[in-house]
Amino acid sequence: MASYAFRLNGRGVSADSWDPAQPLLYVLRNHFGLRGVKFGCGLGQCGACTVLVDGRAARSCQTRVDRAARRSITTIEGLGDPASPHRVQAAFVAEQAAQCGYCTSGMIVTAAALLSQSPTPTDDQIKQALAGNLCRCGTHTRILRAVSRASRA
Ligand code: FES
Ligand code: FES
Repeated sequence: MASYAFRLNGRGVSADSWDPAQPLLYVLRNHFGLRGVKFGCGLGQCGACTVLVDGRAARSCQTRVDRAARRSITTIEGLGDPASPHRVQAAFVAEQAAQCGYCTSGMIVTAAALLSQSPTPTDDQIKQALAGNLCRCGTHTRILRAVSRASRA
């Protein structure tokens, strides 16, 4: 069994695993109880499991735990909270940009990564950044409005 140390939502943590290829997604949900990170497809195709790895959006279902070692991981829980939400979280609430909510964490984390790199994206840039995040409920129009609103906040 190996131990993998990394920063998680601003804290130094470590997790033990028998398998260096174990998906970070499982470690986040099962070891740390971070249930905002969703299992959608498990194949890197839906974006529901998106987290920030050193500030960049990454699919945690496709990120091996040994590759997360010594990196800084941020989940939806680490972006903000109800008392002090990230501007993208606040914009999603303001625009009511969720139906079932299953895709929402991944959408918000991906949008936060976009705005940290491109603070004033065009509508096309927002669509491109979120193209790999699927929403089965068809909430796309509100999601795009929310990201645009966050970019102006
Ligand atoms: S669960 Fe990771 S991309 Fe779908
Ligand atoms: S709100 Fe249901 S999948 Fe997007």
